[in-house]
Amino acid sequence: MKLSFLGTGNMSRVIAGSFAELGHEVFLGSRSAEKACSIAKEIGFHARGGTNDEAADFGEVVFHSVRNVPSTFLQNISLLDDKIIVDLNNRDFPREYNGAEIVESLAASVQKDIPKAKIVKALNNQAMEALFANPEALRKSGVQSFIAGDHLEAKVLVAELLQQLGLSPIDFGPLKNAWLLEVQADILRTYMFATGKFLATPGFIFAPEAPARFGERRKGEY
Ligand SMILES: NC(=O)c1ccc[n+]([C@@H]2O[C@H](COP(=O)([O-])OP(=O)(O)OC[C@H]3O[C@@H](n4cnc5c(N)ncnc54)[C@H](OP(=O)(O)O)[C@@H]3O)[C@@H](O)[C@H]2O)c1
Repeated sequence: MKLSFLGTGNMSRVIAGSFAELGHEVFLGSRSAEKACSIAKEIGFHARGGTNDEAADFGEVVFHSVRNVPSTFLQNISLLDDKIIVDLNNRDFPREYNGAEIVESLAASVQKDIPKAKIVKALNNQAMEALFANPEALRKSGVQSFIAGDHLEAKVLVAELLQQLGLSPIDFGPLKNAWLLEVQADILRTYMFATGKFLATPGFIFAPEAPARFGERRKGEY
C-alpha cells in the first residue's frame, strides 16, 4: 500500500521504517526535499523522500505528525481531499503543565482544516521507543493502540495497518472522542517524564470474572 508521511521527525521515521520493512511503498515529505531523501535513504527498504506536497499526493494513507494543521505548510491543501489522514499529534506538554481547557482536539482542527479528508486519530499514545520492537514482539506483549474517527472504512484500514505493526487496535468511537485520546497522551507523558519509562503504553486490562460479592451493581441517585 502507498503510505506517506508529513514531516521527517521521530514518529515519521520509526513508523515509515516499520511499514517499509513490511513491504509497503513509503514516501516521506519534508520542508526540505533533500532532508527527506536522505532520511528515506537511511531507512532503506526503497523508501522515498520529497516535499510535503509530494507526500500528500502520494499516499493512500497519510500520517500527519507535524505539530500544526496541514494548510500551514502545504502549497496545495486540496491534495489531501478524500485521503485517509492518521493524526498522531499531541499538544506540547511542558513539564509545568497546568491543564488548559480543551476547546477542540488537534484531530478535530485537522478535520476542519481539510473537511473532505477522513481523519483517524491514532498512534498518539505510543512513544517512538515503543515502536522499536518488531511486530511479533509487540503482538506478544498485547500492546493496545486506540483509534477514533468518523469514517468506518478509514478506521478499518488504519486498524489493519496497526495490526501489521503488531498493535491491537481499540476502537474508541467517533472523532469527537479524539480529545480523550489526546488527554490519554497527557496522562501517559506525565508518567513518562516522572519515571523515564518511555515503553509505558496505555491499555485496558480486564479484571477476572467472578460472581458478585456484596450485591450486584445498583443504580445510584445523583
Ligand atoms: N515522539 C514520540 O514518541 C511521539 C509519540 C506519539 C505522538 N507524538 C506526537 O507526534 C508529533 C510529532 O512528534 P515527533 O517526536 O515525531 O516530533 P519531531 O521529531 O519534532 O518531528 C516533527 C516534524 O515536523 C516537521 N516540522 C516541524 N516544524 C514544522 C513547521 N513549522 N512546518 C512544517 N513542518 C514542520 C519537521 O519535519 P521536516 O524537518 O522534515 O519538515 C519535524 O521533523 C507531535 O505532535 C507529538 O506530540 C510523538
